[in-house]
Amino acid sequence: MCGIVGYTGEKECEDILINSLRKLEYRGYDSAGIAVFENGKIKTVKAKGKINDGLVKKLDEEGSLKGVTGIGHTRWATHGEPSDINSHPIGNGRVSIVHNGIIENYRKIKNFLIGKGYVFESETDTESVAKLLDYYYKGDPTEAISKAVTDIEGAYALGIIFIDHPDMIYAVRKDSPLIVGIGENEMYIASDMTALLEYTKHYYLLETGEIASISKTGATFCDIHGNEIKKEIQTATWDISEAEKGGFEHFMLKEIHEQPSAIHKTISPRIKDGMPCFDECGLTDDMLRNYKHIFIIACGSAMHAGMVGKYLIELLARTPVIVDIASEFRYRNPLLSDKDLVVIISQSGETADTKAALELANEVGADTLAFVNVVGSSIAREAKMVMFTYAGPEISVASTKAYMVQNALMYLLAFRVAFARNMIDEQECRRLVSVLETMPDKVGECLEDLDPYRKAASKLVSADSLLYIGRGLDYALSMEGSLKLKEISYIHSESYAAGELKHGTISLIHEGMPVIAVTTQSGLLSKTVSNMREVRSRGAYVIAVCAEGIQIDSDSADFTITIPASEDMFMPLIAVVPLQLIAYYSSVLRGNDVDKPRNLAKSVTVE
Ligand code: AGP
Ligand code: GLU
Repeated sequence: MCGIVGYTGEKECEDILINSLRKLEYRGYDSAGIAVFENGKIKTVKAKGKINDGLVKKLDEEGSLKGVTGIGHTRWATHGEPSDINSHPIGNGRVSIVHNGIIENYRKIKNFLIGKGYVFESETDTESVAKLLDYYYKGDPTEAISKAVTDIEGAYALGIIFIDHPDMIYAVRKDSPLIVGIGENEMYIASDMTALLEYTKHYYLLETGEIASISKTGATFCDIHGNEIKKEIQTATWDISEAEKGGFEHFMLKEIHEQPSAIHKTISPRIKDGMPCFDECGLTDDMLRNYKHIFIIACGSAMHAGMVGKYLIELLARTPVIVDIASEFRYRNPLLSDKDLVVIISQSGETADTKAALELANEVGADTLAFVNVVGSSIAREAKMVMFTYAGPEISVASTKAYMVQNALMYLLAFRVAFARNMIDEQECRRLVSVLETMPDKVGECLEDLDPYRKAASKLVSADSLLYIGRGLDYALSMEGSLKLKEISYIHSESYAAGELKHGTISLIHEGMPVIAVTTQSGLLSKTVSNMREVRSRGAYVIAVCAEGIQIDSDSADFTITIPASEDMFMPLIAVVPLQLIAYYSSVLRGNDVDKPRNLAKSVTVE
């Protein structure tokens, strides 16, 4: 959500700032701006709208900014509508800032500053920080920052420039991410590494409460009392090609195609001698045997991976699992104890509600295990145990490969819990692992011919609303299919347990309404087929997703998509592919911005 960049070095920085901001577009934003030191003065250009439509046009009209030090921002409005004036950078001729997050006590600060004669121009919470820094600034930037952060409450990552220090950038953060990139005779700041991969792979992770003073030759760090902090250099493992489209029309399509290798990369280091292995995070069989409860907490698609996990762990380990949406869990005083395991799932590792749920679980003393994609993210650092998913950077707002590998790790966890609790023996555990190892190929087979998905999308693209139905694991999977369709095609849909339809929802069925029936669970096939007939006989247009070898007759479905078969338990990994691609093509056919759907942000760092 929102992006911050900054550069100080020897090169003209306008292009670097804009290029880096473009790399952060995926995070979601509604306006953009940059501020650059030009002949010792801070010059700002900012505009509502997308980088190309707003900021770049304005720079063309008003003339580009010439200078070697500057900061940039893409804003995802929280306080005040998206407008030129509310865009960042925000400040005056002395201090200029870019901010990600929310300042909770901004009214109090604003009133205080108004009392001191300050006049506010924007509706943002950010302006209170910009003016507070100006108020405290008497020539020493870190002193001003220390004083300001002592006063402000909330979440923030701040990139700051001060008029008397035209070759410096300052940064500080709390709860919103920020990194300091290291180049040769040039330094950067950015919200995440994807912004900088083109320039460097080396960076410092700024921690809460640390103030960075950055010049072209390096960065120094101190706490708010001025004590120096030594930091280690981190090196990104992601490659620039992973953050580029590589010939695909959209990142989403590229990321769907990366799924076979993402599964392989994620599971293979966790399989030792044919068995699932969690040694890297310190999770032992003894621990798994003794947990009283297992919780899985996440948001959105990550929560849907948790739903698949629940079915698997309950099926194999005969242990109850509670799955909850992080924003609900954190406020319902959950029945948690220090004898429980809380599995947290997050692609970004920065989702505010998920992070708060993790903090709550840590406070109670529960063991926390995070499945996270972004190394160095807040959730990865705060969880007691962490297992990284190796999906590589996921740029498209709609999660595909990250969801896939979250599921893949869930399988390994379910196998291990079942083994640790003596519900399956070693031989069965090895067998299950070996089936999991066939998944990259099965998923790859689904990608050989995309035509059926395009056709299915064309059948539903003009619908106002549709249903996804399924039973058991198919139901868990339908939730993800429905979310994917909603978020990128803007077609309303709901996922429904197929057997529950006749308790109310079936009244929605009308002539021509599309219903996507996921029917991969052979043990439940006849039941789901009956439900398909029920809706079809009431006018629904039924699209079935079923495994090879299963015959769906023409009384039950109008259009059938056939996918490679495996054991029921493994089908979600295969069957999600058609659901992703149906959503993808529906979005394309509707002419939507597939990778950056309206109103959404990739990393949801506000509640
Ligand atoms: C997925 O397509 C969504 N855009 C969204 O639901 C996402 O899964 C959710 O916001 C959680 O994000 P996280 O995995 O980064 O925590
Ligand atoms: N709260 C700030 C604003 O609305 C920053 C939003 C953001 O993170 O982009 O301007």
